This record gives sequence, C-alpha cells and structure tokens, in this order.
Amino acid sequence: MTIVTGECKTRLSYENKLILAPMVRVGTLPMRLLALDYGADIVYSEELIDWKFLKSVRRVNDVLGTVDFLDLSDGTVVFRTCGKEINKVVVQLGTSDPARALAVAKLIENDVAGIDINMGCPKEFSLKGGMGAALLYQPEKAKSILCHLVANIKIPVTCKIRVFESIDDTLNLVKELASTGISAIAVHGRTKVERPQHPNRCETIKKISEVLSIPVIANGGSREIDKYSDIFKFKEECGSSSVMIARTAETNCSIFRKKGMKDLEDVIKDYLKYAVDYDNSPSNTKYCVQNMLRELQETPRGKKFLECQTLEQICAIWNLGDYCRKKQLEYQSKGILGRREVTPDLLDPKRKKQKTDIDGEGVHVTMKCAFIRVNFVTDPDLPKSKLIAYCAKNKFDLPKYKVFNEDKLFRAVATLNDVKYSSSYWEKNKRFAEQGAALVACVSLGLISKEDLVKDGSILE
Ligand code: FNR
Repeated sequence: MTIVTGECKTRLSYENKLILAPMVRVGTLPMRLLALDYGADIVYSEELIDWKFLKSVRRVNDVLGTVDFLDLSDGTVVFRTCGKEINKVVVQLGTSDPARALAVAKLIENDVAGIDINMGCPKEFSLKGGMGAALLYQPEKAKSILCHLVANIKIPVTCKIRVFESIDDTLNLVKELASTGISAIAVHGRTKVERPQHPNRCETIKKISEVLSIPVIANGGSREIDKYSDIFKFKEECGSSSVMIARTAETNCSIFRKKGMKDLEDVIKDYLKYAVDYDNSPSNTKYCVQNMLRELQETPRGKKFLECQTLEQICAIWNLGDYCRKKQLEYQSKGILGRREVTPDLLDPKRKKQKTDIDGEGVHVTMKCAFIRVNFVTDPDLPKSKLIAYCAKNKFDLPKYKVFNEDKLFRAVATLNDVKYSSSYWEKNKRFAEQGAALVACVSLGLISKEDLVKDGSILE
C-alpha cells in the first residue's frame, strides 16, 4: 500500500482548473474522489475548524490505504485522505488565529496539496468565533493568518472570500489579501447577507480578475450551471483563471464530466462504491445521497432510503448490498478498527459494565437485524402485532419487553414463553428496539421469512 507522504508531491497550480468547492459534510473523501474521477482538477475539503483539527491525531490506516485524522474523544474521523488525491486536495480551515492555523497546516502539510482559509462563511457560529466572513471586516487579522502560513509551510495557501456591495471596497480588500503571497483567491460573488437566490456578482469577480496577478477562482455560478459548457460561459463572464462549483456538484457531481452529465442513478452508485471502499460513515453517506435525491426522497423508494441506518441498507437500495457486505467482511478480516476500537474513552471499564447489562439477560436467540419501518406496510404487519396475534391464537401470555439504553441507542429483549429474543443491532429509539426484538422472535417462530429480511437489507449479518 502507498503511504501518503509529502515526498512525491507536485506543487499545485490554480490556473485553468475546475474545482470542487468546499462544502460542509458534502466534501468528504468519497465525494472528492468522485469529482476527480469525473474531471475536477482540484477538490476542496469541507471547512474544518482549526481547534477540532488540533485535537485529532494522524493515523495511517493500512486496511483502507488512507491517512486518517481521528478525534480520540469519540472516535470520529475529522479528515480522511488517500494517495489518489494527494496532489489535488485542498483543506479548507475555519480559523481566526494565525498560530492555530499554522499548527493545523503543519499537521497536514505532507498529506495534502494546499490550505485554504475560509473568509466567506456567513453563519453565526463562524462570525461569533471571528472566522469566515468576519475576517472580511478584519483585514489585518486576515492578512496575518495568510502571511504566517505562506512564510512557514511548503504548500500553496489560498483564501475564499465573499464580495462587498462596493466594487472599490472589494478591490481594496483583495489587493491587500493578494499582497500576502497567497497562490490564488476564490471569490463567491455574493455579499455576506446575500443568499443563493440573489444574483451572483460576476462583474465584481471580473474586475478582481483584471486587477490581480494571481489566479482568481470564480464561484457562485451554480444557478446558471446545468451542463459542462455552462462552466466556461461562467468563467468567461468572470474573466477568471478557474471555476469552483458547489451546489450543482452537490446534486450531481458529474457536472465536471466533459462527455456530459451521467444519470443520477449511476452517480449515486459510483458515490456509494467510494463510500464503501473508504468506510465512510453511514450518516455522512446518507446526507450526501439525500442531497442528490432531493424531491425523489418523497417516492416510496426514497422513503425506504430515509429509514436506512447502515451503509449496507443504503447500498441494498441501489443493488450494492452484496458489494458492501463483502467489502466490510474483507475489511474486518484485515482488522479494520471501528469507532469503538480507536476510542479509548469508549473502552473504559464503566462503559464496559454498562455495555454488558444486556448480556446478563441470558438472551436465547440473537440475530443482527434492523427494524426498517417502511418494510411493514400496515400495522398488523408489524413484528409486535404479529406476535400478539400469534399469542392470541395459541392462548399464550403476551410477550414482555425490556429495553436497554447505551449512548442514546437502544436494544430490547422480548420474552415469550420463557424464551428471550433480541436483535444485536442498536436502534435509534425504544419503539424500534422493541420491534427489532419482536422481529427476531417472529423469524425464530417462522412468522416472518428470514429470506425476505435478507432481501430488504434488514439482516445485517
Ligand atoms: C457551502 N459553502 C461553503 N463554503 C465554504 O467556503 N466552506 C464550506 O464549508 C461551505 N459549505 C457549504 C455546504 C453546502 C451544502 C453548500 C451548498 C455550500 C458555499 C459554497 O462553497 C459556495 O461558495 C456557494 O454554494 C456558491 O457556489 P455555487 O453553489 O453557486 O457553485
């Protein structure tokens, strides 16, 4: 496996490039790799906040062939990258402090191609912390961050800004920022208060392109970008060196494809394969697919998708369930570490004790299966209802349920005729946990077919 290292890197150029824009939660590794496959030249990460990054540790993940920056307090992956993108990935930082920004940059400079400072985010969280668009109003602070990075790291530094109402004010700002030695500047042609429905100020970007000698990356054109050739119309209108795309790519990343956009179904499949290959979290994968599906979430298939909680369940909807299962088994056999294993806190003895509560129940029948609501059309179809009908018919006492709770997740034990049934899958609420336990009982008693559950993606192992 190639371990990512700074030694083999080429210096990134920002001239004539098609760029995937930074997007929170969207710009994780699978989406970045997909954008590169389709034709993007450079891919930005989602904005990562400096102090969160600083809490993370760098680990080479031999099973996935990635470099991971892990938050050891909860086991989450703060940033994951791999050799395929080493010359093309730019990490965007949210920061208000030169020293913190540099500390993060030092942590990652061998693993990525560039560092970008977010100076456009209008969200309250950023503004309150003196980050994002707050920096537009503190040019000295903004410059000190950029200067400190340019002077001390060996990879290119850029920033991404929004514009002011006044073209002159904007030009004064960009001249100041460019004087720090940054390699390029990305400009979203809206002001801090303007929203996507407002027109993008392409004429301001054009003026910036005329006055600066560094590459200008035009951004904000998604409303007018529906096909590949639109990208170049936008570029021409802005007179820019390069173009950066967010929303159009978020919904169909194949916008970068010279041969034309791919069908959304194929894009989702391509995306899911990367999500599986790089063990992307189910919640992030679901979020990204939701943004691609948009109104299609209202269809019966979309509703089924919304019920999914595991990667395998999501993949099963696009006929990739087997692919996912095999890959996960392969990774397990190679010793991939799950969240719990990389998280010392989750392994402390107190938690272990809590975890074993359900084990002390002496469950007789266990299966790992998730309760997926949409698989049960009417109320009598529900596992708990089926058990009640079964008991009534056979004159048995009704089943009793006991629910266990850990880390806001739930499992239940259903006791029927002194036999205890449970699903080893942790559900998101008590109701689902009880239905999960009832499901195991129904399968065990032959009231629901196991084969059907396998087909539905409910059986997880
Ligand atoms: C964004 N945007 C954004 N910008 C940024 O600098 N850092 C970020 O993390 C994010 N996050 C983000 C998430 C999502 C879901 C969207 C849609 C947008 C703004 C984005 O990069 C871009 O500037 C605007 O969307 C305008 O470009 P388009 O969408 O017209 O191509």
